[in-house]
Amino acid sequence: MIAKQRAGTMDKIVALSKRRGFVYPGSEIYGGLANTWDYGPLGAELKRNVKNLWWRTFVQKRRDVVGLDASILMHPRVWEASGHVVNFNDPLVDCRTCKSRFRADHLIEERLHRQAEGASPDELSAILREANLPCPNCGNRTLTDARQFNMMFATTIGPISETGTRVYLRPETAQAMFVQYKNVVATSRVKLPFGIGQIGKAFRNEITPGNFIFRQLEFEQMEIEYFVKPEDGATAFDDWLSAMRGWLRLIGVREDHIRVREHAGEELSHYSSRTVDFEYEFPEPMGWKELYGLANRTDFDLRQHQEVSGEDLTYFDQAENRRYLPHVVEPTFGVDRTCLVLLLDAYDEEETLDVNGKPDTRVVLRLHPRVAPYKAAVLPLMKKPELAETARRLFSRLDEELGALVDYDETGNIGKRYRRQDEIGTPFCFTVDFDSLQDHAVTVRDRDDMSQQRLALADVPDWLRERIG
Ligand code: GAP
Repeated sequence: MIAKQRAGTMDKIVALSKRRGFVYPGSEIYGGLANTWDYGPLGAELKRNVKNLWWRTFVQKRRDVVGLDASILMHPRVWEASGHVVNFNDPLVDCRTCKSRFRADHLIEERLHRQAEGASPDELSAILREANLPCPNCGNRTLTDARQFNMMFATTIGPISETGTRVYLRPETAQAMFVQYKNVVATSRVKLPFGIGQIGKAFRNEITPGNFIFRQLEFEQMEIEYFVKPEDGATAFDDWLSAMRGWLRLIGVREDHIRVREHAGEELSHYSSRTVDFEYEFPEPMGWKELYGLANRTDFDLRQHQEVSGEDLTYFDQAENRRYLPHVVEPTFGVDRTCLVLLLDAYDEEETLDVNGKPDTRVVLRLHPRVAPYKAAVLPLMKKPELAETARRLFSRLDEELGALVDYDETGNIGKRYRRQDEIGTPFCFTVDFDSLQDHAVTVRDRDDMSQQRLALADVPDWLRERIG
Protein backbone atom coordinates (compact mmCIF):
# COMPACT_ATOMS: atom_id res chain seq x y z
CA MET A 1 0.00 0.00 0.00
CA ILE A 2 2.73 2.42 1.05
CA ALA A 3 4.80 1.38 -1.95
CA LYS A 4 1.84 2.14 -4.21
CA GLN A 5 1.27 5.59 -2.71
CA ARG A 6 4.93 6.42 -3.23
CA ALA A 7 5.12 5.15 -6.83
CA GLY A 8 7.19 7.58 -8.85
CA THR A 9 9.28 8.75 -5.88
CA MET A 10 12.33 6.89 -7.18
CA ASP A 11 12.27 8.89 -10.44
CA LYS A 12 11.91 12.09 -8.46
CA ILE A 13 14.87 11.17 -6.26
CA VAL A 14 17.01 10.35 -9.30
CA ALA A 15 16.12 13.75 -10.82
CA LEU A 16 16.64 15.66 -7.57
CA SER A 17 19.96 13.88 -6.98
CA LYS A 18 21.23 15.03 -10.35
CA ARG A 19 19.76 18.54 -10.11
CA ARG A 20 21.12 19.28 -6.64
CA GLY A 21 24.37 17.34 -6.72
CA PHE A 22 23.65 14.26 -4.59
CA VAL A 23 24.37 11.57 -7.20
CA TYR A 24 25.38 11.82 -10.86
CA PRO A 25 25.47 9.04 -13.49
CA GLY A 26 29.06 7.77 -13.81
CA SER A 27 31.27 8.87 -16.76
CA GLU A 28 28.42 10.90 -18.18
CA ILE A 29 30.42 12.96 -20.70
CA TYR A 30 31.44 9.68 -22.37
CA GLY A 31 27.85 8.55 -22.64
CA GLY A 32 27.91 6.99 -19.16
CA LEU A 33 28.92 3.58 -17.86
CA ALA A 34 25.75 1.72 -16.94
CA ASN A 35 25.13 1.14 -13.24
CA THR A 36 28.02 3.23 -12.02
CA TRP A 37 27.18 6.35 -10.04
CA ASP A 38 29.21 9.21 -8.59
CA TYR A 39 28.28 11.04 -5.41
CA GLY A 40 28.28 14.82 -5.96
CA PRO A 41 29.06 17.48 -3.33
CA LEU A 42 25.90 16.92 -1.26
CA GLY A 43 25.84 13.15 -1.76
CA ALA A 44 29.45 12.93 -0.60
CA GLU A 45 28.46 14.74 2.61
CA LEU A 46 25.40 12.55 3.17
CA LYS A 47 27.44 9.40 2.63
CA ARG A 48 30.24 10.63 4.89
CA ASN A 49 27.73 11.44 7.64
CA VAL A 50 26.31 7.91 7.40
CA LYS A 51 29.75 6.29 7.54
CA ASN A 52 31.01 8.51 10.37
CA LEU A 53 27.90 7.90 12.42
CA TRP A 54 28.13 4.15 11.85
CA TRP A 55 31.83 4.08 12.79
CA ARG A 56 31.20 6.15 15.90
CA THR A 57 28.21 4.00 16.93
CA PHE A 58 29.54 0.52 16.25
CA VAL A 59 33.32 0.84 16.48
CA GLN A 60 34.44 3.80 18.57
CA LYS A 61 31.65 3.80 21.16
CA ARG A 62 31.66 0.04 21.72
CA ARG A 63 34.42 -1.34 23.89
CA ASP A 64 33.99 -4.75 22.26
CA VAL A 65 34.56 -3.71 18.61
CA VAL A 66 37.78 -2.62 16.91
CA GLY A 67 38.28 -1.28 13.40
CA LEU A 68 40.08 -2.49 10.29
CA ASP A 69 40.85 -0.88 6.94
CA ALA A 70 42.03 -3.64 4.62
CA SER A 71 43.06 -3.94 0.98
CA ILE A 72 40.52 -4.53 -1.74
CA LEU A 73 42.90 -7.00 -3.41
CA MET A 74 43.56 -10.14 -1.40
CA HIS A 75 45.40 -13.40 -2.05
CA PRO A 76 43.34 -15.42 -4.56
CA ARG A 77 43.23 -18.38 -2.19
CA VAL A 78 41.15 -16.27 0.21
CA TRP A 79 38.26 -16.60 -2.24
CA GLU A 80 38.81 -20.32 -2.70
CA ALA A 81 38.72 -20.80 1.06
CA SER A 82 35.70 -18.55 1.55
CA GLY A 83 33.73 -20.51 -1.05
CA HIS A 84 33.26 -17.54 -3.36
CA VAL A 85 35.05 -19.12 -6.34
CA VAL A 86 32.64 -22.05 -6.30
CA ASN A 87 29.51 -20.64 -4.69
CA PHE A 88 29.28 -16.92 -5.39
CA ASN A 89 27.14 -17.38 -8.44
CA ASP A 90 23.99 -15.94 -9.85
CA PRO A 91 21.79 -18.08 -12.09
CA LEU A 92 21.37 -16.44 -15.49
CA VAL A 93 19.33 -17.08 -18.61
CA ASP A 94 20.05 -15.74 -22.08
CA CYS A 95 17.62 -14.94 -24.83
CA ARG A 96 18.70 -16.81 -27.99
CA THR A 97 17.02 -14.17 -30.17
CA CYS A 98 18.07 -10.76 -28.78
CA LYS A 99 21.01 -11.97 -26.61
CA SER A 100 19.70 -10.17 -23.48
CA ARG A 101 20.65 -11.63 -20.10
CA PHE A 102 18.51 -11.94 -17.02
CA ARG A 103 18.77 -13.36 -13.53
CA ALA A 104 16.66 -16.49 -13.62
CA ASP A 105 15.42 -16.18 -10.02
CA HIS A 106 14.47 -12.50 -10.46
CA LEU A 107 12.63 -13.27 -13.67
CA ILE A 108 10.57 -15.95 -11.93
CA GLU A 109 9.87 -13.70 -8.95
CA GLU A 110 8.80 -10.79 -11.16
CA ARG A 111 6.79 -12.69 -13.79
CA LEU A 112 5.43 -15.64 -11.82
CA HIS A 113 5.40 -14.07 -8.33
CA ARG A 114 7.19 -17.09 -6.88
CA GLN A 115 10.08 -16.92 -4.41
CA ALA A 116 13.04 -18.42 -6.30
CA GLU A 117 16.19 -17.10 -4.61
CA GLY A 118 18.52 -19.95 -3.68
CA ALA A 119 16.92 -22.46 -6.07
CA SER A 120 19.37 -24.55 -8.12
CA PRO A 121 19.83 -23.94 -11.87
CA ASP A 122 17.99 -27.22 -12.56
CA GLU A 123 15.04 -26.17 -10.44
CA LEU A 124 14.94 -22.73 -12.05
CA SER A 125 15.22 -24.20 -15.55
CA ALA A 126 12.32 -26.55 -14.84
CA ILE A 127 10.12 -23.66 -13.68
CA LEU A 128 11.09 -21.57 -16.72
CA ARG A 129 10.46 -24.40 -19.17
CA GLU A 130 7.07 -25.15 -17.66
CA ALA A 131 6.00 -21.49 -17.73
CA ASN A 132 7.50 -20.96 -21.20
CA LEU A 133 8.12 -17.30 -20.35
CA PRO A 134 8.73 -14.78 -23.13
CA CYS A 135 11.94 -12.73 -23.11
CA PRO A 136 11.16 -9.47 -21.24
CA ASN A 137 13.14 -7.59 -23.89
CA CYS A 138 12.02 -8.96 -27.29
CA GLY A 139 9.00 -11.08 -26.36
CA ASN A 140 10.24 -14.26 -28.08
CA ARG A 141 9.92 -17.50 -26.16
CA THR A 142 13.58 -18.31 -26.69
CA LEU A 143 15.09 -18.24 -23.21
CA THR A 144 17.88 -20.72 -22.47
CA ASP A 145 18.05 -22.90 -19.38
CA ALA A 146 19.54 -21.28 -16.27
CA ARG A 147 23.30 -21.58 -15.69
CA GLN A 148 25.64 -20.30 -13.02
CA PHE A 149 27.69 -17.14 -13.48
CA ASN A 150 30.40 -16.13 -10.99
CA MET A 151 29.95 -12.57 -9.80
CA MET A 152 33.52 -11.73 -8.83
CA PHE A 153 35.44 -9.22 -10.95
CA ALA A 154 38.90 -10.54 -11.79
CA THR A 155 42.00 -8.57 -12.70
CA THR A 156 45.71 -9.28 -13.12
CA ILE A 157 48.69 -8.18 -11.06
CA GLY A 158 51.76 -7.66 -13.24
CA PRO A 159 52.48 -6.02 -16.59
CA ILE A 160 51.68 -9.06 -18.77
CA SER A 161 48.20 -10.37 -18.42
CA GLU A 162 49.03 -13.94 -19.59
CA THR A 163 51.73 -14.47 -16.93
CA GLY A 164 50.41 -12.19 -14.19
CA THR A 165 48.62 -13.31 -11.05
CA ARG A 166 44.87 -13.42 -11.38
CA VAL A 167 43.23 -11.71 -8.40
CA TYR A 168 39.69 -10.64 -7.54
CA LEU A 169 38.20 -7.36 -6.47
CA ARG A 170 36.65 -8.30 -3.12
CA PRO A 171 32.92 -9.02 -3.36
CA GLU A 172 32.48 -8.38 0.39
CA THR A 173 34.63 -6.63 3.00
CA ALA A 174 34.07 -9.49 5.45
CA GLN A 175 36.91 -11.81 4.45
CA ALA A 176 39.67 -9.41 5.54
CA MET A 177 38.23 -9.52 9.05
CA PHE A 178 38.63 -13.32 9.11
CA VAL A 179 42.06 -13.27 7.50
CA GLN A 180 43.33 -10.62 9.97
CA TYR A 181 41.52 -12.03 12.98
CA LYS A 182 44.67 -13.68 14.31
CA ASN A 183 46.69 -10.44 14.07
CA VAL A 184 43.91 -8.50 15.79
CA VAL A 185 43.77 -11.02 18.66
CA ALA A 186 47.56 -10.88 19.02
CA THR A 187 47.88 -7.10 18.93
CA SER A 188 44.80 -5.47 20.40
CA ARG A 189 44.14 -7.36 23.63
CA VAL A 190 40.60 -8.17 22.61
CA LYS A 191 38.83 -10.99 24.40
CA LEU A 192 35.81 -12.93 23.25
CA PRO A 193 33.17 -11.75 22.55
CA PHE A 194 34.56 -9.05 20.29
CA GLY A 195 33.99 -7.66 16.82
CA ILE A 196 36.04 -6.29 13.96
CA GLY A 197 34.33 -3.56 11.95
CA GLN A 198 35.18 -2.25 8.54
CA ILE A 199 33.82 0.18 5.95
CA GLY A 200 34.92 -0.24 2.37
CA LYS A 201 34.25 -0.86 -1.28
CA ALA A 202 33.03 -4.16 -2.65
CA PHE A 203 32.54 -5.19 -6.28
CA ARG A 204 30.07 -7.55 -7.90
CA ASN A 205 29.50 -8.32 -11.54
CA GLU A 206 25.73 -8.17 -11.11
CA ILE A 207 23.68 -9.53 -14.01
CA THR A 208 20.74 -7.29 -13.27
CA PRO A 209 22.02 -4.16 -11.61
CA GLY A 210 19.73 -1.17 -11.46
CA ASN A 211 17.17 0.80 -9.50
CA PHE A 212 19.52 3.75 -9.23
CA ILE A 213 22.12 3.11 -6.47
CA PHE A 214 20.25 0.07 -5.10
CA ARG A 215 22.18 -2.58 -7.04
CA GLN A 216 25.52 -1.45 -8.42
CA LEU A 217 28.70 -3.05 -9.70
CA GLU A 218 30.80 -1.12 -7.18
CA PHE A 219 29.38 -0.20 -3.80
CA GLU A 220 30.30 0.26 -0.16
CA GLN A 221 29.61 -1.94 2.82
CA MET A 222 29.82 -1.38 6.59
CA GLU A 223 30.31 -4.78 8.18
CA ILE A 224 31.10 -6.29 11.55
CA GLU A 225 32.35 -9.79 12.16
CA TYR A 226 31.47 -10.51 15.79
CA PHE A 227 33.46 -13.41 17.26
CA VAL A 228 31.81 -15.37 20.07
CA LYS A 229 32.08 -18.68 21.91
CA PRO A 230 30.51 -21.46 19.80
CA GLU A 231 27.56 -21.75 22.17
CA ASP A 232 26.87 -17.97 22.18
CA GLY A 233 25.97 -17.47 18.52
CA ALA A 234 22.19 -17.37 19.04
CA THR A 235 22.36 -14.77 21.84
CA ALA A 236 24.75 -12.57 19.87
CA PHE A 237 22.40 -12.83 16.89
CA ASP A 238 19.48 -11.46 18.95
CA ASP A 239 21.63 -8.67 20.40
CA TRP A 240 22.68 -7.56 16.92
CA LEU A 241 19.11 -7.73 15.68
CA SER A 242 18.14 -5.07 18.20
CA ALA A 243 21.35 -3.06 17.63
CA MET A 244 20.47 -2.89 13.93
CA ARG A 245 16.96 -1.69 14.74
CA GLY A 246 18.52 0.96 16.98
CA TRP A 247 20.71 2.13 14.08
CA LEU A 248 17.69 2.58 11.81
CA ARG A 249 16.05 4.70 14.50
CA LEU A 250 19.24 6.73 14.94
CA ILE A 251 19.38 7.75 11.29
CA GLY A 252 15.65 8.40 11.17
CA VAL A 253 14.32 5.65 8.86
CA ARG A 254 10.56 5.21 9.25
CA GLU A 255 9.75 2.05 11.19
CA ASP A 256 6.66 1.25 9.10
CA HIS A 257 8.89 1.06 5.99
CA ILE A 258 11.02 -1.70 7.55
CA ARG A 259 10.37 -5.40 8.09
CA VAL A 260 12.62 -8.25 9.18
CA ARG A 261 12.46 -11.39 7.03
CA GLU A 262 13.91 -14.76 7.99
CA HIS A 263 15.68 -16.66 5.19
CA ALA A 264 14.24 -20.07 4.42
CA GLY A 265 16.71 -22.99 4.36
CA GLU A 266 17.27 -23.09 0.59
CA GLU A 267 17.82 -19.34 0.46
CA LEU A 268 20.67 -19.34 3.01
CA SER A 269 24.15 -18.39 1.75
CA HIS A 270 26.73 -21.15 1.69
CA TYR A 271 28.27 -19.86 4.94
CA SER A 272 25.17 -19.18 7.01
CA SER A 273 23.17 -21.21 9.54
CA ARG A 274 20.66 -18.38 10.04
CA THR A 275 20.10 -15.12 8.16
CA VAL A 276 17.56 -12.36 8.45
CA ASP A 277 17.19 -9.48 6.04
CA PHE A 278 16.13 -6.03 7.07
CA GLU A 279 13.87 -5.17 4.17
CA TYR A 280 12.70 -1.73 3.16
CA GLU A 281 9.46 -1.05 1.33
CA PHE A 282 10.68 0.77 -1.77
CA PRO A 283 8.20 2.68 -3.92
CA GLU A 284 6.50 0.63 -6.62
CA PRO A 285 7.40 -1.19 -8.73
CA MET A 286 10.26 -2.33 -6.43
CA GLY A 287 8.35 -3.13 -3.22
CA TRP A 288 10.07 -4.93 -0.32
CA LYS A 289 13.80 -5.42 -0.95
CA GLU A 290 16.89 -6.15 1.16
CA LEU A 291 18.45 -3.20 2.92
CA TYR A 292 20.74 -4.95 5.43
CA GLY A 293 21.51 -8.50 6.50
CA LEU A 294 22.35 -10.34 9.69
CA ALA A 295 23.92 -13.79 9.44
CA ASN A 296 25.22 -16.46 11.78
CA ARG A 297 28.31 -17.55 9.85
CA THR A 298 29.17 -20.12 12.54
CA ASP A 299 32.86 -21.13 12.34
CA PHE A 300 32.58 -21.67 8.57
CA ASP A 301 35.03 -18.94 7.51
CA LEU A 302 37.67 -19.44 10.22
CA ARG A 303 37.57 -23.21 9.67
CA GLN A 304 37.98 -22.79 5.92
CA HIS A 305 40.85 -20.30 6.26
CA GLN A 306 42.51 -22.52 8.83
CA GLU A 307 42.33 -25.48 6.50
CA VAL A 308 43.42 -23.72 3.32
CA SER A 309 46.16 -21.52 4.85
CA GLY A 310 47.45 -24.15 7.29
CA GLU A 311 47.52 -21.51 10.09
CA ASP A 312 46.09 -22.36 13.48
CA LEU A 313 43.18 -19.94 13.93
CA THR A 314 41.86 -21.33 17.20
CA TYR A 315 41.35 -19.03 20.16
CA PHE A 316 42.70 -19.84 23.58
CA ASP A 317 40.11 -19.01 26.19
CA GLN A 318 42.14 -18.37 29.34
CA ALA A 319 39.18 -18.13 31.66
CA GLU A 320 37.90 -21.55 30.62
CA ASN A 321 41.29 -23.03 29.80
CA ARG A 322 40.10 -24.35 26.45
CA ARG A 323 40.90 -23.81 22.78
CA TYR A 324 38.26 -23.52 20.06
CA LEU A 325 37.31 -21.85 16.79
CA PRO A 326 35.00 -18.94 17.58
CA HIS A 327 31.65 -18.61 15.86
CA VAL A 328 30.85 -15.39 14.02
CA VAL A 329 27.72 -13.27 13.82
CA GLU A 330 27.75 -10.76 10.98
CA PRO A 331 25.63 -7.62 10.79
CA THR A 332 26.12 -6.09 7.34
CA PHE A 333 24.96 -2.68 6.14
CA GLY A 334 25.08 -1.30 2.58
CA VAL A 335 26.21 2.32 2.54
CA ASP A 336 24.58 3.14 -0.79
CA ARG A 337 21.29 1.48 0.09
CA THR A 338 21.31 3.48 3.33
CA CYS A 339 21.72 6.71 1.37
CA LEU A 340 18.98 5.68 -1.06
CA VAL A 341 16.55 4.82 1.73
CA LEU A 342 17.31 8.07 3.55
CA LEU A 343 16.55 10.07 0.41
CA LEU A 344 13.36 8.11 -0.36
CA ASP A 345 12.11 8.32 3.21
CA ALA A 346 12.87 12.03 3.43
CA TYR A 347 11.28 13.07 0.15
CA ASP A 348 8.07 15.04 0.50
CA GLU A 349 5.98 17.40 -1.58
CA GLU A 350 3.70 19.99 -0.04
CA GLU A 351 1.09 22.14 -1.70
CA THR A 352 1.76 25.70 -0.63
CA LEU A 353 2.10 29.25 -1.97
CA ASP A 354 5.17 30.61 -3.70
CA VAL A 355 6.84 33.95 -2.89
CA ASN A 356 4.24 35.75 -5.03
CA GLY A 357 1.32 34.04 -3.29
CA LYS A 358 0.60 31.63 -6.18
CA PRO A 359 -0.11 27.90 -5.60
CA ASP A 360 3.14 26.00 -5.63
CA THR A 361 4.62 22.64 -4.69
CA ARG A 362 7.27 22.74 -1.99
CA VAL A 363 9.78 19.90 -2.32
CA VAL A 364 11.33 19.12 1.03
CA LEU A 365 13.85 16.50 2.09
CA ARG A 366 13.03 15.76 5.70
CA LEU A 367 16.44 14.25 6.44
CA HIS A 368 17.31 13.70 10.08
CA PRO A 369 19.71 16.49 11.14
CA ARG A 370 22.29 13.79 11.99
CA VAL A 371 22.65 12.83 8.34
CA ALA A 372 21.66 16.05 6.51
CA PRO A 373 24.56 17.37 4.36
CA TYR A 374 24.23 20.90 5.77
CA LYS A 375 23.16 21.21 9.39
CA ALA A 376 22.12 24.81 8.83
CA ALA A 377 22.40 27.74 6.43
CA VAL A 378 23.23 31.32 7.26
CA LEU A 379 21.38 33.74 5.01
CA PRO A 380 21.70 37.51 5.05
CA LEU A 381 18.26 38.87 4.11
CA MET A 382 19.81 40.94 1.32
CA LYS A 383 23.22 41.24 -0.21
CA LYS A 384 24.30 44.29 1.82
CA PRO A 385 27.74 44.73 3.42
CA GLU A 386 26.36 45.52 6.90
CA LEU A 387 24.26 42.32 6.92
CA ALA A 388 27.07 40.29 5.41
CA GLU A 389 29.43 41.26 8.21
CA THR A 390 27.15 39.92 10.96
CA ALA A 391 26.14 36.90 8.88
CA ARG A 392 29.77 36.02 8.06
CA ARG A 393 30.68 36.27 11.74
CA LEU A 394 27.86 33.86 12.67
CA PHE A 395 28.84 31.52 9.85
CA SER A 396 32.51 31.41 10.99
CA ARG A 397 31.46 30.75 14.57
CA LEU A 398 29.21 27.86 13.58
CA ASP A 399 31.81 26.53 11.20
CA GLU A 400 34.48 26.47 13.91
CA GLU A 401 32.44 25.51 16.95
CA LEU A 402 30.15 22.90 15.42
CA GLY A 403 32.55 20.71 13.47
CA ALA A 404 29.77 20.17 10.92
CA LEU A 405 28.96 21.61 7.55
CA VAL A 406 27.02 24.89 7.39
CA ASP A 407 26.04 26.69 4.19
CA TYR A 408 26.27 30.40 3.47
CA ASP A 409 24.10 31.86 0.74
CA GLU A 410 23.50 35.54 0.01
CA THR A 411 22.30 35.58 -3.58
CA GLY A 412 18.68 35.81 -4.70
CA ASN A 413 15.28 36.14 -3.20
CA ILE A 414 15.07 34.86 0.41
CA GLY A 415 12.01 32.71 -0.36
CA LYS A 416 13.86 30.96 -3.16
CA ARG A 417 16.87 30.44 -0.93
CA TYR A 418 14.64 28.80 1.70
CA ARG A 419 13.21 26.52 -0.99
CA ARG A 420 16.67 25.49 -2.13
CA GLN A 421 17.63 24.60 1.44
CA ASP A 422 14.34 22.66 1.83
CA GLU A 423 15.14 20.64 -1.26
CA ILE A 424 18.60 19.66 -0.06
CA GLY A 425 17.42 18.81 3.45
CA THR A 426 18.98 21.63 5.50
CA PRO A 427 17.04 21.51 8.80
CA PHE A 428 17.49 25.16 9.86
CA CYS A 429 18.12 28.55 8.26
CA PHE A 430 19.39 31.53 10.24
CA THR A 431 18.42 34.79 8.58
CA VAL A 432 20.26 37.98 9.44
CA ASP A 433 18.11 41.08 8.80
CA PHE A 434 18.37 44.79 9.62
CA ASP A 435 16.83 44.22 13.07
CA SER A 436 19.72 41.84 13.81
CA LEU A 437 22.06 44.81 13.83
CA GLN A 438 20.03 46.33 16.70
CA ASP A 439 18.72 43.35 18.70
CA HIS A 440 21.65 40.97 18.05
CA ALA A 441 19.20 38.22 17.14
CA VAL A 442 18.38 36.18 14.03
CA THR A 443 15.29 34.52 12.60
CA VAL A 444 15.44 30.73 12.75
CA ARG A 445 13.35 29.04 10.07
CA ASP A 446 12.45 25.38 10.52
CA ARG A 447 12.58 23.27 7.34
CA ASP A 448 9.78 20.90 8.33
CA ASP A 449 6.97 23.26 9.30
CA MET A 450 8.42 26.55 7.98
CA SER A 451 7.83 28.11 11.41
CA GLN A 452 10.01 31.06 12.35
CA GLN A 453 11.26 32.29 15.69
CA ARG A 454 13.71 34.87 16.95
CA LEU A 455 16.90 33.71 18.65
CA ALA A 456 19.78 35.66 20.22
CA LEU A 457 22.90 35.46 18.05
CA ALA A 458 24.97 34.39 21.02
CA ASP A 459 22.70 31.37 21.62
CA VAL A 460 22.75 30.02 18.07
CA PRO A 461 25.66 27.49 18.37
CA ASP A 462 24.25 25.80 21.50
CA TRP A 463 20.71 25.87 20.14
CA LEU A 464 21.86 24.15 16.95
CA ARG A 465 24.15 21.66 18.67
CA GLU A 466 21.25 20.49 20.80
CA ARG A 467 19.12 19.82 17.74
CA ILE A 468 21.61 18.07 15.49
CA GLY A 469 22.62 15.55 18.13
N1 GAP B 1 29.34 -10.10 4.01
C1 GAP B 1 28.00 -10.43 3.76
C2 GAP B 1 27.46 -9.82 2.55
O1 GAP B 1 28.19 -9.28 1.75
P1 GAP B 1 25.24 -9.37 1.25
O2 GAP B 1 23.81 -9.48 1.69
O3 GAP B 1 25.62 -10.02 -0.03
O4 GAP B 1 26.11 -9.92 2.45
C3 GAP B 1 25.56 -7.02 2.29
O5 GAP B 1 25.63 -7.84 1.15
C4 GAP B 1 24.89 -5.69 1.99
O6 GAP B 1 25.60 -5.03 0.93
C5 GAP B 1 23.47 -5.81 1.46
O7 GAP B 1 22.55 -5.93 2.53
C6 GAP B 1 23.30 -4.51 0.71
O8 GAP B 1 22.99 -3.45 1.59
C7 GAP B 1 24.69 -4.27 0.15
N2 GAP B 1 24.79 -4.72 -1.27
C8 GAP B 1 24.95 -5.98 -1.72
N3 GAP B 1 25.04 -6.02 -3.06
C9 GAP B 1 24.93 -4.74 -3.49
C10 GAP B 1 24.97 -4.11 -4.77
N4 GAP B 1 25.17 -4.81 -5.88
N5 GAP B 1 24.84 -2.76 -4.83
C11 GAP B 1 24.66 -2.02 -3.70
N6 GAP B 1 24.63 -2.56 -2.46
C12 GAP B 1 24.77 -3.90 -2.35
